[in-house]
Order: sequence, then structure tokens, then C-alpha cells
Amino acid sequence: MTSDRNTPHPETAELRAKIVALDTELAESFKTQFSGAPFLSRKVVSFQGNKGKPAYSWYKYKEAFSAGLVEYFLGSYVGQVSGKVLDPFAGIGTTLFAASSQGIPADGIELLPIGQEIIRARLLSERELTSNDIATLESWIKSLPWKEFSERLPFSTIPITENAYPPETVEAIERYRGALQQEDEKVQAILRLALLCVLESVSYTRKDGQYLRWDARSGKRRPGTKAFNKGEILAFDAAITAKLKEILSDIRDVQMPVTLFPVKQPMADIRLFEGSCLEVLPTLETVAYTAVMTSPPYCNRYDYTRTYALELAMLELTKAEVSHLRQEMLSCTVENREKDLLKICPQWKPFIEIANQQKLLQAINTYLQHEKDAGTLNNNGIPRMVRGYFLEMACVMGECARVLKPNARLLMVNDNVRYAGVSISVDMILSDIARSLGFEVEKIWVVPIKKGNSSQQMGTYGRVPLRKCVYVWRRR
Ligand SMILES: C[S@@+](CC[C@H](N)C(=O)[O-])C[C@H]1O[C@@H](n2cnc3c(N)ncnc32)[C@H](O)[C@@H]1O
Repeated sequence: MTSDRNTPHPETAELRAKIVALDTELAESFKTQFSGAPFLSRKVVSFQGNKGKPAYSWYKYKEAFSAGLVEYFLGSYVGQVSGKVLDPFAGIGTTLFAASSQGIPADGIELLPIGQEIIRARLLSERELTSNDIATLESWIKSLPWKEFSERLPFSTIPITENAYPPETVEAIERYRGALQQEDEKVQAILRLALLCVLESVSYTRKDGQYLRWDARSGKRRPGTKAFNKGEILAFDAAITAKLKEILSDIRDVQMPVTLFPVKQPMADIRLFEGSCLEVLPTLETVAYTAVMTSPPYCNRYDYTRTYALELAMLELTKAEVSHLRQEMLSCTVENREKDLLKICPQWKPFIEIANQQKLLQAINTYLQHEKDAGTLNNNGIPRMVRGYFLEMACVMGECARVLKPNARLLMVNDNVRYAGVSISVDMILSDIARSLGFEVEKIWVVPIKKGNSSQQMGTYGRVPLRKCVYVWRRR
């Protein structure tokens, strides 16, 4: 069978037409919930909104949303209601810290050790560092003790992180790691945090969604790609001292006695569960939370275990451990194998049935499988990823419905995606599944597209730009 994007095969055209018809029908059923959101911007729903914000900007986690968004949501929907907030995809803990600073306790689940490490170090910095610890850290900025330190502590690499740094940077990192062993645990944790925060900037790599891009100076190049220059590669000593200064200055601000700033709330408890939310959620208490605020991985093939490989290797994960994490992640890469969801939790059968009955999703699954069989997909893992994504999300959402109190809100940031020439309305499919799981869909806020961006995104095939939305669901 032949098919190109301009003149698709009749069967392809028919399957696509069915998707468009079902999409239009669903859009009609959500027409009162869809709403423009001039108060939201791409900046607020992304990490950019944390730029310059004390502590939130230490580690550049490109997949994070802003503390401002969490504060807005808590202010609008949660208010002074007593209770606890949950984020099953906690990342570097934006929801947790923003809720806690407003006096609302928060629980988070995060799979990747990089997010876990950032959350733990930040908690320690806010709650446990003494003035002596701070003085020790200040002495590191003044005297750069690693420079004269003779015992280097080598770090491990995995195949995708080999030769990621200039040789003088490797030496400096090893001396830094050696020297920090002399300090007590709390000081070590902050020094390690600073190291994780500068790795990308002192390396030949740049994080680029699906993979790490390599600067041509590394001598590595992905086959079929153009030579890439990431700009300045920072010298280690300058990068680490600047980062330590930033961290210390923020710690001093956060630790200011509450009495100096009477408006400031005391920080509420934060609890971090390390692991997959698919495993942890079924262990959480029923009707225990006042809100869920989250952003799952998008169904966009972004592979966090590759983009964050430098950090995972520095945290001493082996290649096998990184591959295992890739499989544990919510299915969002073409390498994800199917998960045995009923083995994880037999009670999820109704959630899986609900997803399997969602008509638009089923039409999309049929279409992608058809295109795979016809050999037209650029990667045959796409149908499995899309199927897995929605089934796993249905289980996560079903669990969220179980742990939320009546009338509690769930707020989710997510992006629509496009495969094989077809737009997938992730927002409407998940919201429709949510209705069957016991939620009322209150709003689907559409994040405005920057002016000038849309024609660029429309590309050669007259594509419409993909929606980025914030969904607000209320537990019935
Ligand atoms: C879009 S990011 C969330 C970022 C977060 N809102 C923040 O501001 O830092 C999605 C997160 O989900 C995590 N994740 C992916 N699969 C997971 C799973 N099965 N269980 C728990 N976390 C998972 C990823 O590691 C990533 O940190």
C-alpha cells in the first residue's frame, strides 16, 4: 500500500476522517468547558516562569511548571481549605514546595533519582542547615578547596555519557567530589546539589527533548545531524562557585526568621515517595487529599532517561538501572514496552475498560496500528506508546479519583500531540475518561500561543498548532 501525506490511501483517508468526526463530536460536548486563558502564558505553565525565583531556579528542569501556576491554582481553588495536596509526577517538587510555602502539606511521587535528589537537597536546605553549615559552604566559595585536593574521586559513565566533558573539567569534578567527602552529610548534600545543577553547562551536551545533543567539540555526532555548537561551555570553577553563591543567597532568604516577615506562612510538611506512581498510588489512603496538581510526561516521545543521563550517571546509576527506569516511566517513548497493569493492581480493570471504550482513542489506536502495518510510520513503537500512555493515565486518574475528597479539584498541565499526520486531542480524551472515572470536567483552559509562532508550527502541511492546556476536574 502506498500513502503519502498529500494523497493518502483510501483506507488511511477513511480512518483519518473517522478521527476528525469523533474529535469534532467530542469538542462539541466540551464546548462550554474549553476556555481561553489570558491569565496563563507559556511562561507560567513552563519552567521559564521560575526564572530568578529563589530555589526554584537552581536546577533547570525543563519539564517543570512554574511555582506561580501552583500558587494561582491553590489560591483559586483550594484556598484555606484544610487538607493535603498530591502530585503523582512530582519532578523537582514545584507543587510540593509551592503548596508547603502556603502552609498546605504536600505528598509527591517521583520516579527519577534526579528529581528525588533535588527535592531532598532542597528540603534539607530549607529545614536542616545550620549557620555553621552555611559558613562552611561560604568557605568553599572563597577558597575553592577542591583545586588543591589531591584525592580525586572518579565518577562513572554510561555509554551515552562517555566523553561528555572536556578533560580539565573531568579532573576538576573528580577533585571536587574528592574534597566534598571531607564535609559532614548536610554540607555534602548541598555541594552535590550544586554539582548536579552545573553539569549541563560544563559539558559538551545540551538537553533536547528526545535525546542529548552533542557539541561538535566533543568529537561525537549523531548520524545524519548537522554539526552543533552549544555556545560557551563554562569552566567548572566559575560555574560551581556561581551556583553555590546563588544557592547560599537563596537559602539565607528562605531561612530568614519568620518573625521578620510576619506575612510568611510557616512551611508545611512535604513527603516524597520515591518510585513509580503506578506502584505507589494504590498504597495511598482513600479520600485523603484536597487537591491533585500535576503534569505527567507528555505523549511526545521525550525520553527523560536520555536527556537527564549526565545527572543519572553522576548519581551512580548503571546502564541497566537507567534502562530499567525507562521502562518504569509512564509510557511516553517509543521504547516503552507494554506494562502488565492488572498485575500491578487487579482493581484497575474498570479503569482499563473505560479507556478501551473511549471512541476517539480507539479510532486513533486503530489508525496508528493500520499505519504501522502499512509500513508508513517513522517508528513502529508509536502505536504501543500511545496505547500504553492512555491506559496507564486512566489508571493514574482512577487512583487520583479514589484518593481525592468529594468536590476536590485535580489540575493537570498537558500537551496534545500529533503522529502520522493526525492530531491527538490528549486534553479531550483524558477529560472524557475522567468523566467516567468520577470527575466533572470544569474547565479546559487553552494556553495562548505566542504571536508569530503559529505559522511556523503549521509547517508544510497546513497543520493547526497543537493545544497546550490546563485541565480542571472536580471530584464528584
Ligand atoms: C512533566 S514532569 C513534571 C514536572 C513537575 N511538575 C515539576 O514542576 O518539576 C513529569 C515527571 O514525571 C516523572 N515520571 C514519569 N513516569 C513516572 C512514574 N511512573 N511515576 C512517577 N513519576 C514519573 C518524570 O520523571 C518527570 O519528573
